[in-house]
Amino acid sequence: MSSTDTVASAGGFTEGHFVTFEGLDGSGKTTQMRLLAAHLRARGTEVIETVEPGGTTIGQAIRRILLDPAHDHLGPVAEMLLYFAARAQNVDEVLEPALARGATVFSDRWTDSTFAYQGYGRQLGEGIVADLDRIACRGRQPDLTLWIDVELETSLGRARSRNVQESAEGTRMDEQSRAFYEQVLQGYRILAERQPERFVRVDGNGTLEEVAERVKLAYSRLEPSRV
Ligand SMILES: Nc1ncnc2c1ncn2[C@@H]1O[C@H](COP(=O)(O)OP(=O)(O)OP(=O)(O)O)[C@@H](O)[C@H]1O
Ligand SMILES: [Mg+2]
Repeated sequence: MSSTDTVASAGGFTEGHFVTFEGLDGSGKTTQMRLLAAHLRARGTEVIETVEPGGTTIGQAIRRILLDPAHDHLGPVAEMLLYFAARAQNVDEVLEPALARGATVFSDRWTDSTFAYQGYGRQLGEGIVADLDRIACRGRQPDLTLWIDVELETSLGRARSRNVQESAEGTRMDEQSRAFYEQVLQGYRILAERQPERFVRVDGNGTLEEVAERVKLAYSRLEPSRV
């Protein structure tokens, strides 16, 4: 990022920021994204919130395929392609139009999730994720990613209690093993080591308010005058 608060696009118009939220299931991504979006809106920033998969009508249909417990035979490569199909649609329909008119876009998960869950968790490797990202996202990368990092037990406990409220059936993801989630966490750690400017770890332990303060602090490196 430059020292200014905004990125100038080719036409001289000011392009919005693209910020993503990452972390294990139940880490607090959705909660913290909503809190930061509300905080920035109260200060006059236009924030568009999206989610992957599911940020478009087509993405929601893909999300239903991915989370359907009847699809426990969905192959790992097919699964990964579905995630990228949803994301490609999001790029065209939501992300690029919003950034082009100067809005800030927050996404609840993005390609770093595919890197961590499919690349590391399912051990498909980093190369294939990078290749598909180039095709689906056409060079668009988040300006800042906030990784809400909590202990594995905390995350699984929060996800379980939330899913019990939402659905008695749970999702395919809930049935996966602890070893899988350890691999996912390893993927996130690698991203934080390699891209410390973009991929920022936020301690997700503690109360909602404590984590929200850390999120604001981490976001302030992108837009110091807006937080
Ligand atoms: N700091 C916190 N302390 C206690 N509970 C929390 C905290 N943050 C979130 N929660 C609760 O934990 C549950 C999961 O949080 P949230 O839905 O924000 O996580 P998530 O990362 O979006 O999960 P998923 O990946 O499954 O969508 C929710 O019930 C939420 O209210
Ligand atoms: Mg969520």
